[in-house]
Amino acid sequence: MKAIVMTGVGGPEVLVAQDVTVPHPGPGELVIRAEAIPVLFPETKLRSGEFPMPAEPPVVFGFQAAGVVVEIGDGVDTALLGRRVAVATMGFGSYAEFVCAPAAAATAIPDALSSVDAAAVLMDGSVALPLLATAALTGTETVLIEAAATGVGSALTQLAKEFGAARVIATAGGPEKSARALALGADTVIDHNAPDWPNRLRESLDGTTLDVVFDSIGGTTARDLLTAMTPVRGRILSYGWLSGAPAQISTTDLLPNGLTLTACAGPAWLAEVSRCGTAALDRAATGTLAPQVDSVLSLDEAANAHQLIEQRSPIGKIVLRP
Ligand SMILES: NC(=O)c1ccc[n+]([C@@H]2O[C@H](COP(=O)([O-])OP(=O)(O)OC[C@H]3O[C@@H](n4cnc5c(N)ncnc54)[C@H](OP(=O)(O)O)[C@@H]3O)[C@@H](O)[C@H]2O)c1
Repeated sequence: MKAIVMTGVGGPEVLVAQDVTVPHPGPGELVIRAEAIPVLFPETKLRSGEFPMPAEPPVVFGFQAAGVVVEIGDGVDTALLGRRVAVATMGFGSYAEFVCAPAAAATAIPDALSSVDAAAVLMDGSVALPLLATAALTGTETVLIEAAATGVGSALTQLAKEFGAARVIATAGGPEKSARALALGADTVIDHNAPDWPNRLRESLDGTTLDVVFDSIGGTTARDLLTAMTPVRGRILSYGWLSGAPAQISTTDLLPNGLTLTACAGPAWLAEVSRCGTAALDRAATGTLAPQVDSVLSLDEAANAHQLIEQRSPIGKIVLRP
């Protein structure tokens, strides 16, 4: 079968199309014929070596795929054969025509949802839902959603009011992505490409404060936001580090105003994310969470897709179709 092999750690060019052996499922596993493979932002960090890879290259790359179950291993429900599912692999093996994954990590795709849309929404929705549950918004609060035009931020922006945000302030890079964040439901958008954006945010708050920050940018700007937060109730949900480092905040920074930082990461968090996959796909099928698809490219174009993501040009997911 054709697959995209990560031949080493480095630039997009390490992702090379090769013929490899079709995988067969072990006990508790299934194999799908892939119809849609999302290219995920964190995957670009794995490929470049900024995140540790769970397997040594050369290895078939990729985390998620959606498609039809064609083979099951011992102990797997036979009713899954022929069903469309979205799967998460053990960290590799999804940029391929056939993908092997644990059956426990397979989420049934509702009939009303295309495989492309399922692939596009799975991660964004299943991360946004536990973030919103953790935020426990009261109905009167103001939230800040960073990088709101794409990825997890786009799902947070669509869902925040339903989950109890009264005002949604978003950040996005440039006019096109700012317009997208507004279309997704933000009340105000600040362009985070401007280095002094936390000051612009403070101006837009006009004396009010932020109750919740969904922090995907991290780094030192996270600390710049603390003085704009509601004393005692203000909470930061730190789930990403687009800037290259997690929020650079210590208890010394949080203490003066009694703020809280919750780290939304680690195995227990990811188990919760995985549990939310069904809810994310159901929402997409019923129209309460719109999948954001930038483009559908052929599997051969995986390296190009990584390059586009690194240039920050897609507005929505790039989905590969074998
Ligand atoms: N904890 C979890 O469970 C979890 C799960 C998934 C992802 N994550 C993390 O959450 C963050 C967002 O992931 P995602 O998949 O939602 O990303 P994404 O939105 O699909 O893509 C990244 C976008 O972030 C914006 N951005 C802002 N600052 C950036 C910077 N310094 N470098 C690159 N891009 C920047 C860019 O849009 P603009 O053009 O608008 O700037 C870019 O298009 C990542 O750090 C990811 O690793 C965490």
